[in-house]
Amino acid sequence: MKLINNYIPLVFLFVLVSCNSQNTKSNSASLKDNFKGDFYIGTALSADQIEQKDAKVDELIRKEFNAITAENIMKSMFVHPLKNKYDFAMTDKFVAYGEKNKMFIHGHTLIWHSQLAPWMSEIKDSIEMKAFMKDHITTIVSKYKGKINSWDVVNEALNDDGTLRKSVFLNTLGKSYLVDAFKLAAKADPKVDLYYNDYNICEPKKREGAIELVKNIKANGGKIDGIGIQGHWRLESPSLEEIEKSILAYSALGLKVAFTELDITVLPNPWDLKGADVNQKFEGSAKMNPYPKTLPDSIQTKLADRYAAIFKIFLKHKDKISRVTFWGVHDGQSWLNDWPIKGRTNYPLLFDTKLKPKKAYISVMQLKENKK
Ligand code: XIL
Repeated sequence: MKLINNYIPLVFLFVLVSCNSQNTKSNSASLKDNFKGDFYIGTALSADQIEQKDAKVDELIRKEFNAITAENIMKSMFVHPLKNKYDFAMTDKFVAYGEKNKMFIHGHTLIWHSQLAPWMSEIKDSIEMKAFMKDHITTIVSKYKGKINSWDVVNEALNDDGTLRKSVFLNTLGKSYLVDAFKLAAKADPKVDLYYNDYNICEPKKREGAIELVKNIKANGGKIDGIGIQGHWRLESPSLEEIEKSILAYSALGLKVAFTELDITVLPNPWDLKGADVNQKFEGSAKMNPYPKTLPDSIQTKLADRYAAIFKIFLKHKDKISRVTFWGVHDGQSWLNDWPIKGRTNYPLLFDTKLKPKKAYISVMQLKENKK
């Protein structure tokens, strides 16, 4: 009996130590290490995050992610606000941050109709537009030659039905602007990977449009290396079948496939609303923001299952996938709190507002851990 009693503290110590080492193990595990050799795991950085304003957020970024995209500061309205003025203060910081932390650095984005510097939308004819594109693309891509690893050369050139979106670029140059953009980028940095990036391109019609767009660039002598599927998704759609079909279809064109802006909204879509009864307004907005305090467990689980199912497909096709980037670090800063309705509380990412890993994080991590 005495012998057993002597052992009790020892057993207790052993349990304590082994629990602790398990904790350290799970605390040191990270998305980027877990998916090393499969694809990069990226995040979008806000201006504050680039400037490392919050040490805890910064620690999380460096621990979990090995690829970065600037959420806003590389867009034309910030980087090229006036015809004769570039502002590289923030983009320099962004690139330096990536280099210091040995991260894959993605450039977002060169030619896009949104967040366009106002002077650019005034461009009236093909001569002016050609001069703009040459100056804009050459200046920016050359500046970061050998530092930025891939570029979204053109963003969102398609309508949902697969036709080309009416934009200042299409209006002045016709569809040749797409080829021109890719040629200019390749000339400025022949080694950098060049992507076409868009949303809803897992939907059949828009996918057909994207395939045509890529073929057209190639047929006209442009270099295009990859397709960026943004991945602003919902719990129910797009279907896993369409996601898989898209990976296969784009990869069959000889392209790398990247998921560039992944997030999954759990909130109702306002466009399901029918009619315009003003009395519906208050009721409507409360209905549109159903989880202002916390996400119910049942939805948390749905989100975890959806993320796991999606990552299972990513892993199945890891040979075709270059990068999976989340659009933001944690729920508290997601753009989906303010889009398409301002001031809601959404839960689209793997870390919560307090930077704690969610059930979705665990379900994604377990896909690999079970195989080790
Ligand atoms: C979003 C940013 O997250 C917001 O902060 C900004 O107000 C609007 O743009 N597709 C893209 C991204 O290519 O650049 C967009 O980012 C989201 C949709």
